[in-house]
Order: sequence, then C-alpha cells, then structure tokens
Amino acid sequence: MANLQGRATPWGSLRGRFDLLMALVIAAITLTIIYLARDAEPPPSEEEGGVSGMGKAGRREGECNLFSGRWVYDNMSYPLYKGLECKFLSDDFACEKYGREDLGYQNWRWQPHDCDLPRFNATAMLERLRNKRIVFVGDSLNRGQWVSMVCLVESAIPSNSVNLLSSPGKSSVMVFKAKEYNASIEFYWAPLLVESNCDDPRKPDPDRTVRIQAIKKHARHWSDADILVFDTYLWWRWSNVKVLWGSFESPSGIYKEVKKLRAYEMALNTWSQWMEIHVNRSKTELFFVSMSPTHYRAEEWGGVAGKNCYQETQPITKEDYWGSGSDQAMMRVVETVIDDLRARGVTVKILNITQLSEYRKEAHPTIYRKQWVPLKEEQLANPMSYADCYHWCLPGVPDVWNELLYAHIFKNWVPKLEENV
Ligand SMILES: *[C@@H]1O[C@H](CO)[C@@H](O)[C@H](O)[C@H]1NC(C)=O
Ligand SMILES: *[C@@H]1O[C@H](CO)[C@@H](O)[C@H](O)[C@H]1NC(C)=O
Ligand SMILES: *[C@@H]1O[C@H](CO)[C@@H](O)[C@H](O)[C@H]1NC(C)=O
Ligand SMILES: *[C@@H]1O[C@H](CO)[C@@H](O)[C@H](O)[C@H]1NC(C)=O
Ligand SMILES: *[C@@H]1O[C@H](CO)[C@@H](O)[C@H](O)[C@H]1NC(C)=O
Repeated sequence: MANLQGRATPWGSLRGRFDLLMALVIAAITLTIIYLARDAEPPPSEEEGGVSGMGKAGRREGECNLFSGRWVYDNMSYPLYKGLECKFLSDDFACEKYGREDLGYQNWRWQPHDCDLPRFNATAMLERLRNKRIVFVGDSLNRGQWVSMVCLVESAIPSNSVNLLSSPGKSSVMVFKAKEYNASIEFYWAPLLVESNCDDPRKPDPDRTVRIQAIKKHARHWSDADILVFDTYLWWRWSNVKVLWGSFESPSGIYKEVKKLRAYEMALNTWSQWMEIHVNRSKTELFFVSMSPTHYRAEEWGGVAGKNCYQETQPITKEDYWGSGSDQAMMRVVETVIDDLRARGVTVKILNITQLSEYRKEAHPTIYRKQWVPLKEEQLANPMSYADCYHWCLPGVPDVWNELLYAHIFKNWVPKLEENV
C-alpha cells in the first residue's frame, strides 16, 4: 500500500528501539517467531532480523494496512478516558455534558484486519514527547484530535503539573504543557493551511478568500516542532474559492475565482514547498490526516431521505461504505502532493482515517454540544435542522485517530495471530 511505503518495518524499527521498548519487543519477537515459524521459515536471529527479515516483513507490512479493518463493540476497554473528567474537553465536542444519553458511540474499538493496534499508553507518549513539541495544524476537526490527545495523556499526570494556555475559540494557538515532562501538545488554527480571511477563529469571513501562495505567517508557529500533524479539507468543500495573489492590504492584489479542486492543489503545493525547504528531515516527523467524513444524507446509508446523522445510534456495517461528503478527487490530490514531496526527500505519513470514520454515522455531536449562536424558535422545533454531523463527540472517533498516530510514532503494531491459525 502506498500509505505504508517508505516506513521502517515493524520488525526493523522495533529493533532500533530495543532499549526503550524492551518488554514490547520481546513480546513482538515472540509473536513474530511464532508467526514466521508457522510459515515454515527459520526465525530470524536478532542480528539478521533487520536485513533478511526485511523483504518478508515489508510484504507483511504491506498486508497490514492499519486503516483497513472493522469496528468492534468493546465496552470493557473503551472509552479510553472519561469525558466528564477531562478538564480540557471543549464544549464543541462534549456530547455527554450537553445531554446525550445514548453513549454507545464511546465503546467502539478499531480492529485492523491484519494486525492489532498497540494500546495507547499515556506515560509512554509523554516520555516520547519529553522536551518536545507536537503541533496539530488545521481546522476544527484537527482541533478535536488535539483535544482528544490532551484528554488521553491528561489522566497520566497530576493536575497541578499541567498548563493550558489560551482558551478554545479565542486564539489561533492552544498549548497544553505537561510540566514535569516539558512536553508541549499544541494546536494551531489554519483551516486552509495557507493564509486566508478565515484565520481569525473568532470571526472567519464567510466570503472566503485565500492567499494561495502565502504560508509563512502560519508556519512560524510550527517551524521547529518535533511532530507535526496537519489536516485541511472541509473548508475547501463548499464552493469555488476566491484566490488572492498579493496581500490583503495591497490595492494591487489580484483576485480570481478558482475551482475548489485546483485551489486545493495550489494550496497544498505551497505547503509542500515550505516543507521541502524548512523541515529538518532528521528531526521532524510529519503526518497528514485525510478528510473527515460528514453524515448529512441518511439515504446514502439506507436511512430515510431528508434525515441526517441526528438520532443515529449504531455505526454503518456495510463494508467499504463511502458517503458523498468524502471527495476521492481531493484525496488523490493529497496523495500526489505527498508522493512528490517524498520524491524530494520529505516523508509525510498519511493517516488515512476517512474509511474508518465513514462507518461512524452515530458518533457526531448532533444537537449535544454548545451552541455559540442562540437557536431560533424554528430550529428548536426541528432539532435535525441544526444537528452537527461534521465534528465528533469525545471520547470517540478522534481517540482512534490518535491511537493510529501513536502506532505510527512508535511503529509497534504486531502481527495478529488468530487470523493465521
Ligand atoms: C485511503 O483509504 C481509502 C479506502 O480505504 C482508499 O480508497 C484511499 O486510496 C486511501 N488513501 C490514501 C491516501 O492512502
Ligand atoms: C457491556 O455491554 C454488554 C452487552 O451490551 C452489557 O451486558 C454489559 O453490562 C456492558 N458492560 C459495561 C461495563 O457497561
Ligand atoms: C506504559 O509506558 C511506561 C513508560 O514506557 C511503562 O513504564 C509502563 O509499563 C507502560 N504501561 C503499560 C500498561 O504497558
Ligand atoms: C523544553 O522543551 C522545549 C521544546 O518544547 C525545548 O526547546 C527546551 O530545550 C526544553 N527544555 C529543557 C530544559 O530541556
Ligand atoms: C536537525 O535536527 C537534528 C536533530 O535534532 C540536529 O542535530 C540538527 O542540528 C538540525 N539541523 C538543522 C539544520 O537545524
């Protein structure tokens, strides 16, 4: 699979982290040996594991696409934290706090077809982030993933040793600091990645105008991060985009309406050029989160036409379900830009969360979130009309995105045994 190319094999990288992940490695080696022995191949010794195991493991990794799998109801291990206890859970995603009663959406585990996800270990994550910065950059979907990460690690540290600088929605920058680790988990608001008139989170301009070649103003906020997690998608979806060459202030700026797909490509190229020139390849790990699906058309999953995700309580079970909210052409643009960037020496891992999130029509906040603008009477009379089917409740789907991120940061998923018996 393209999305796993160029990564260290689980076997090779586990070897590389032998000191840090001793226990896990031993478990993984044991599993790998059993696994290989079953294939009637000699178990690799520690010395040759990285070399002779490579082709084999490489093939196996190709088979193990973490993003291909199914949801399993698991109310023993999930949720991974209690939403009502996470102080940093912002009101946009706090479905339980805002009165949602069916909480089944919190209890689903993602099970890849060919391997198991490692369990999220908050202490290990904080150790990995010691003296480091991870920055999530993008729109409110990415902010949801940032909040999820903060809630996931928060339970592992005493509350008097954390800091949250600036409050959600008020500023472009949000910083969570775990003091005793000197670890910084940050979010930076740049919904279109490049500069735009939507960069002020308090008053994004509905008449969207994008400075398609300008990213410096944003990039200085994340230029020396150790791990970067980007997303941008939904803000490009609505219509054609007004593109500006020149600055917002300058009277000589040139404005032109550009088709959204083309504008998206231009913006991602600006982003990738910045990355090529500025990213320290030996220091920074890079991720791009694929588009987050929306659930506004119930007829697409066999529901009643005219309805949306409001009052849904179960995931979609139809394999490979794909709704009209997720634009394949835009995903291909991301793929192409990131492939080109890899050819130029910068590797960005795509967290391909689209398919797995497609299944989760029941996991959006709908009406159970803070309403920033008071609702009108006719809206209150018809809750479906203001249901949020864009974002995700927390605890919930973005926790799994972070488990996938975690798996890629530690590269420690293991072959699944049962399927080979
Ligand atoms: C992501 O997964 C979907 C379906 O599983 C696939 O169609 C798509 O090509 C993948 N995209 C990338 C960038 O890997
Ligand atoms: C988990 O779900 C099962 C089946 O729905 C139920 O019987 C059980 O009580 C639940 N356990 C918890 C801890 O919620
Ligand atoms: C979590 O990680 C820490 C630090 O690496 C380790 O000491 C601990 O044993 C791990 N916990 C579990 C349950 O694996
Ligand atoms: C704390 O972390 C920052 C990165 O977030 C790093 O630049 C700084 O050197 C660290 N401080 C110490 C004392 O290691
Ligand atoms: C890139 O990062 C490495 C590892 O942190 C560091 O040693 C090196 O000096 C950095 N290079 C530049 C050009 O900043």
